[in-house]
Amino acid sequence: MKQLSEQQIIDNWNKLIKLIDDTFVDTDDNERHTKLREMYDYFEDRMSVAPASGKAAYHNAMVGGYVEHVLHVTKCALQIKELWESNGPEINFTDEELIFAAMHHDLGKVGDLNQDYYIPQDSEWHRKNRGEIYKHNPNLQYMSVTDRAIFLLNHFGISMSQWEYIGLRLTDGMYEEANKSYYLTYNPDWALKSNIAYILHQADMMATHIEGDEWKRADEEYNTQLSTNMKKAVDSKTKTKQPSPKLSEKSQDLFDELFGDK
Ligand SMILES: [Fe+2]
Repeated sequence: MKQLSEQQIIDNWNKLIKLIDDTFVDTDDNERHTKLREMYDYFEDRMSVAPASGKAAYHNAMVGGYVEHVLHVTKCALQIKELWESNGPEINFTDEELIFAAMHHDLGKVGDLNQDYYIPQDSEWHRKNRGEIYKHNPNLQYMSVTDRAIFLLNHFGISMSQWEYIGLRLTDGMYEEANKSYYLTYNPDWALKSNIAYILHQADMMATHIEGDEWKRADEEYNTQLSTNMKKAVDSKTKTKQPSPKLSEKSQDLFDELFGDK
């Protein structure tokens, strides 16, 4: 399984805070940077170690997986936006709006104000047979991840623009049933009026699949290393069981006796 070192977890947290400081500024009528820092300070202990999913088969189901995923989606979103831009469509949102939506599309995975969304799976059977490393916290009021993200941002008084809302609301694409009326409409007036949702969905998909592949590769490397170590252990045992010189002499004598010229 993929794992992050303590230093990588600290580095990722610092990168996230730097991204906030570099992207958002307070204005006379909107202290968004200050409010964001308040929210991130509040959640630092829990958010910095939160996983991005609960199952090994999904992505980043590990300590620090959430922050790594959010940074990954933000990076992919900026790269994909450039790809779109170079192919000619209208980009009617700012990089700040794109970063805000990317950073908060999975915010609900941190949990509510007091409790984590994911807690360690304590059933050995589920860990082994279902690959469930974490499970959903049963004490939390049910909300979709996106609804909880919006609830938390609202709680900390963090406002968002229309495109930020549309972006983070629709990042899951058609994987979320509730998004259907936004993506599939037969009324042209209701079609999405910004490409921000498509770009964020592509970024989230890309980051998620890459993280899933990294997990599989880490597993393969672990298994290869394990079989190499086992082979080495068997080889060294076999070597220690090599016939002693004395035994070799005995074998030679027997050979000579049976097949030697007499
Ligand atoms: Fe995501």
